[in-house]
Amino acid sequence: MAFTIAIDGPAAAGKGTISKAVAQHFGFAHLDTGLLYRAVGRRMLDGVPALAAARALMAQDLDAEDLRTPAVAQAASKVAVMPEVRAELVDFQRAFARRSGGAVLDGRDIGTVICPEAEAKLFVTASAEVRAQRRFAELAGAGVITSYDRVLADVRERDARDMGRAEAPLRPARDAVLIDTSEMDIDAAVARAIDAVNLARRST
Ligand code: CDP
Repeated sequence: MAFTIAIDGPAAAGKGTISKAVAQHFGFAHLDTGLLYRAVGRRMLDGVPALAAARALMAQDLDAEDLRTPAVAQAASKVAVMPEVRAELVDFQRAFARRSGGAVLDGRDIGTVICPEAEAKLFVTASAEVRAQRRFAELAGAGVITSYDRVLADVRERDARDMGRAEAPLRPARDAVLIDTSEMDIDAAVARAIDAVNLARRST
C-alpha cells in the first residue's frame, strides 16, 4: 500500500525532526528532499555545473557528511532556483513517495508540485527568530562557529529566495494542515503532526 505524507515549510522549521518521528511512528520510509539540493549545491561549490551534478546524483551522495553547513545550505537554495535542476530530481522523489509501505517526504514543494495527490499534507512553520535560534543551537552543537545574527540573516535570505522563485516556490498547498511550532516543543509538534496524519488516514 502506498501512502504519502508531504511535509513542507521554511528553513529550520523543524520539518526534519518531525518527519523522522512521524515516519518512525507509522513505520514509513523518510526522504529529506533538502539533501538532494544540498548534495547538488555541494558539488557546485566544488566547481561542477549544477545541472551536471543533478544528473549524476546518486542515493549515496545524500549520506555525505558535510551537507549541513551554512555554506552548503546557501548553495542548495541557489541551485534550487534552476528549473532544469528541479526537473532532474522529480522522478526520484515521486518514485520514493509511491513506494509500497508508505513514505514521508519533507521539503518545500512536496505537497504542491512533487506529490499534489499526497494523502496527508502538513506545512510546518515558526517565526524566523525561533527558527534561527534552533538552527544556531544545532550548528553550535555540531561545532560550527557562527553567530545568531548570521544564522537569522541566512534563514531570511533563503526564505526570500525559496518563496520568491518562479519554479515551485515555497508555499502551503491549499489543503495542507498548518502547524506553527513557534510556541511548541518538539513533542507537542510531533503529536500534532501524528494527529493530522491519523485524521487523513481515516478519510482515505
Ligand atoms: O534544513 P533546512 O530547512 O534549513 O533546509 P533544507 O530542507 O535542507 O533545504 C535546503 C534548500 O534546498 C532550501 O533552502 C531550498 O532552497 C531547497 N529545497 C527545495 O527547493 N525544495 C525542496 N523540496 C527541498 C529543499
